[in-house]
Amino acid sequence: MNILITGGAGFIGSHVVRRMVKNYPKYHIYNLDALTYAGNLENLKDIENFSNYTFLKGNITDYSFIDSTFKNYKFDRIIHLAAESHVDRSITDPLAFVTTNVIGTVNLLNASKELWKDDLSNKLFYHVSTDEVYGSLAATGLFTETTSYDPNSPYSASKASSDHFVRAYGETYDLPFIISNCSNNYGPNHFPEKLIPLFINNIISNKPLPVYGDGNYTRDWLFVEDHAKAIDIAFHNGNRGETYNIGGFNEWKNIDLVKLLCKLMDKKLNRNLGDSEKLITYVKDRPGHDLRYAIDATKISSELGWKPSVTFEEGLSKTIDWFLENQDWLNNITSGSYKEYYSKMYK
Ligand code: NAD
Ligand code: TYD
Repeated sequence: MNILITGGAGFIGSHVVRRMVKNYPKYHIYNLDALTYAGNLENLKDIENFSNYTFLKGNITDYSFIDSTFKNYKFDRIIHLAAESHVDRSITDPLAFVTTNVIGTVNLLNASKELWKDDLSNKLFYHVSTDEVYGSLAATGLFTETTSYDPNSPYSASKASSDHFVRAYGETYDLPFIISNCSNNYGPNHFPEKLIPLFINNIISNKPLPVYGDGNYTRDWLFVEDHAKAIDIAFHNGNRGETYNIGGFNEWKNIDLVKLLCKLMDKKLNRNLGDSEKLITYVKDRPGHDLRYAIDATKISSELGWKPSVTFEEGLSKTIDWFLENQDWLNNITSGSYKEYYSKMYK
């Protein structure tokens, strides 16, 4: 099977690519990525020479490139992760999110429809999406697969739109698809613009920890390798035309999570307990900040047998260790255009 994975040089994509390359030597995995600021081939150093792996540099917004690539490599299945993924950047530049997340996805759908027009058997368009499409929850309740879409940020609106297009191609053209909507991921290779890696980086270098608003916002955190495992299981055993919610039943208020992170880092850095917490700084809130996300992952666990493999404490500890052991990776990222982003974003 020829499998195209888009966005494989990014955070989650690199874990999906590694898992598929290593676990399925009979598949050929093509990783197509534009290498934007978030794409980094360093993430895949350990598998770059595997004979069942090929990297293709290209942009999903360029239809003529996408169409010819599909015709060249005759992909049987696609796992689509390429996206602009950071909410704060979507507030500054919404159009970039429409271009990649909506138009890029429709380009891939059109190229798949065209390539598979004479034979849809064993084909699959697997679309990786987010729980943010469901909007925001109050203090109770969980997002299920039938919760209405109600996106609030330009990022979540663009992902919601892409999900709708995927489903529409299924209804209109019989394109075989699966969509999964996952909660917040964390783990190795996480780009340090998102909460956990940003704060790990700032604690290492004794910089302020910018907590938005009162810090009482809640997210449901899942270790990235458990997301990759869920995608693998749903890709192989999921039913066509279905949506699967993925999450670890692991809700944390931002401020509680930050305090836990500070404690763990004090220990690992041999600092006095309480040193890192002193870095917490409350800053201006994010506009349209969603109060709470929480996923009901009953369907994927009861129908497909998926469950997370690590507890949050284990996952967070592994993540911190990875960042401490890979400071070159972190320094390479934070030395370039990241500096400009950081000073604009956090003034
Ligand atoms: P990321 O920002 O780390 O990586 C995105 C990757 O896509 C990068 O390698 C980038 O170079 C590539 N890319 C961006 N625009 C492209 C384009 N126009 N053409 C080709 N490649 C392009 O993102 P991530 O956090 O790994 O998220 C991956 C997917 O998972 C996204 O679709 C995201 O919406 C979804 N998701 C993320 C989370 C999360 O917590 N990070 C949770 C649920 C779902
Ligand atoms: P983030 O990692 O950007 O993920 P998302 O917005 O997709 O959930 O943010 C997670 C939570 O942390 C969210 O409630 C916003 C908050 N946050 C801060 O308080 N400070 C920060 O510097 C960042 C990046 C996020």
